[in-house]
Amino acid sequence: MMVFTKTENLLKILLPYRAQNKIGFIPTMGALHTGHLSLVKKALEKNDCVVVSIFVNPTQFDNSSDLKKYPRTLEKDVTLLETLQGTVYIFTPDTKTLYGETVNSKKYRLGAIASEMEGRHRKGHFDGVATVISLFFKVILPNNAYFGQKDFQQLQIIKKLVEIEKLPIKIIGCPIVREKNGLAMSSRNKRLGQQQLENATIISKILKEVRSQFKKKSIQELNKLVENRFKQSSLQLEYFEIANEKTLKTVSRKRKENKYRAFIAAFSKEVRLIDNMALN
Ligand code: PAF
Repeated sequence: MMVFTKTENLLKILLPYRAQNKIGFIPTMGALHTGHLSLVKKALEKNDCVVVSIFVNPTQFDNSSDLKKYPRTLEKDVTLLETLQGTVYIFTPDTKTLYGETVNSKKYRLGAIASEMEGRHRKGHFDGVATVISLFFKVILPNNAYFGQKDFQQLQIIKKLVEIEKLPIKIIGCPIVREKNGLAMSSRNKRLGQQQLENATIISKILKEVRSQFKKKSIQELNKLVENRFKQSSLQLEYFEIANEKTLKTVSRKRKENKYRAFIAAFSKEVRLIDNMALN
């Protein structure tokens, strides 16, 4: 497995692939799991080579302790990617290589979707994500880039980013990969102890319950139901929202013609977990 830390070396190896227009890209912050591998596998089906970036992006964290404690497991990540068949390159630049001397996020006009949910609860988060993805896109110039739907709002932000920056990159959203017990796979799960992992399954259980009750119950009743379920659990609910899938705006009334999705952010001690599910 070839691991690149310097942009020039990566660009040299990518040169022959440029003409084929088949470079796939999966940006990650490392601590890879089966969810990431499913993105890489999908990318390998359609591209001649796939670049996986591993970079814990400081500008998207609004909490310095969260940044410090984010799991960093490069050796294991390399071993995991080596289990795949196909041409995969790892790009793991340091902050200076990627950002230069000033580690700041750009201010983007990402529109209303950026101020909902994660945007409301994590100030500056999406500017940080858009900045780092834009930096990667401009170096790697991939034809296709793959993102998991666990970060559903982030996926919409990236689609908006390529529109704003007029980048000829196809953004492909991929389904959430879950553990057998329903827990959405996440690098942050590595910070949970055995009991916390078990308790965290409540998130997907509640989402499933909301999905099964969606036709019968009003939004207000569903909000109440979720609030009560969390009160009985060991997790702290940060937000539960049923939102229009297109606008990501919270809704208080259902309309037949719209698609809805339920979103949860909750804490297990200091570890923040998110998940979402399509409702109709
Ligand atoms: O989803 C993530 O892991 C990060 O937000 C991303 C897209 C790699 C940007 O740092």
